[in-house]
Amino acid sequence: IDGLKGELMYRGYDIAYLAENKTFIDVAYLLLNKELPNKKQYDEFKLELKKRSFIHEGMMKIFDAFPDKAHPMAILQAAVSALSAFYFDHLNMDKPEEYHEMAMRIIAKIPTIAAFSYRFSRGLPIIYPNLDRGFTENFLYMMRSYPYEHVNLRPIEVKALDTVFMLHADHEQNASTTTVRTVGSTHAHPYACIAAGIGALWGWAHGGANEGVIRQLEQIGSVENVDKYIARAKDKNDPFRLMGFGHRVYKNFDPRAKIIKKAADDVLHALGIDDPIFDIAKHLEKVALEDDYFKSRNLYPNVDFYSGIIYKALGMHLEMFTVLFAIGRLPGWIAQWKEMRQGGEPIGRPRQIYTGAKERAFVALDKR
Ligand code: ACO
Repeated sequence: IDGLKGELMYRGYDIAYLAENKTFIDVAYLLLNKELPNKKQYDEFKLELKKRSFIHEGMMKIFDAFPDKAHPMAILQAAVSALSAFYFDHLNMDKPEEYHEMAMRIIAKIPTIAAFSYRFSRGLPIIYPNLDRGFTENFLYMMRSYPYEHVNLRPIEVKALDTVFMLHADHEQNASTTTVRTVGSTHAHPYACIAAGIGALWGWAHGGANEGVIRQLEQIGSVENVDKYIARAKDKNDPFRLMGFGHRVYKNFDPRAKIIKKAADDVLHALGIDDPIFDIAKHLEKVALEDDYFKSRNLYPNVDFYSGIIYKALGMHLEMFTVLFAIGRLPGWIAQWKEMRQGGEPIGRPRQIYTGAKERAFVALDKR
């Protein structure tokens, strides 16, 4: 990332090039193997992921144990953590030659777990992976189908979701990736590390912002109310913040936001969706970008400002939004975990600056 220039590259390839010309499978391969695949490598990688896309049937009891309407992020985190019990077998956390298998398994299984988390949270019948479909297409199929019913998945929908996944695939030392690496530095099971990363992703200051954006746009309700909410965001006595605005690293613009805005426009147009939320979002962005408060603090729309609009257009339930971010970020998390373990990184152990009382005498209980 070059935060000042607003640039993002994966292993030397510009994100805009990848989003336009490649697929999420290419990007996952690139992050894991340091090079883009050739045709044969691509086909093999895709097939290997398909073969691993089913999960142990015993895990159904875990999904089943959750109450109705449980947040899918809670289910996802628990189920990914449980993978470390179901897929412990012969794999050795200290053997680099086995890292690839561990990485492939979780990349293959996370869409299945994510879709099952959704289906169980809504009381819907489970749809198993369909091996005739591509990676992202299969995920949409598991989300949207009903048994014995034909589901219409339009290529533009698959492409839009695939693009969003690519844009989320890796992003340096954000909170969740750092969490994955820190847990991994203790030699914990890789799936326990990923489960920790999912926890870190959940909050609104990180991956939870995409859910927050749509809730906020719905709260704003109409273009006429935008000024009122802009004023609230600027008011130091009001905790209200514009969701999907600002970034710790990008201080010029978020290159992913540009790409995703166009993808959102394309998908709404192709699907013939006239969503007033998109108008509110565009107006909010325009007003904020012209406002001194936002300009002077370098606050621009981040990737999550428009991702939710795409998810909504694809019929995704709000609570699934951060789960979708997790599917996209997984190749980055696992590639970073692999790199960290192969590099023999020592245990993560930050020190802290203590600012409390200095050494003092103990005071007996009856004298306090
Ligand atoms: N709305 C209004 N004001 C904001 C916003 C916002 N979204 N973001 C930052 N500010 C203001 C702060 O109040 C502060 O003002 P001050 O200098 O007058 O005190 C100034 O901008 C700097 O804010 P910080 O919180 O110090 O910036 P930081 O880099 O720590 O935070 C963050 C970045 C967490 C992303 C923040 O901008 C934010 O809360 N955004 C909204 C939530 C969001 O979109 N999160 C997604 C992040 S991207 C991702 O994970 C994909």
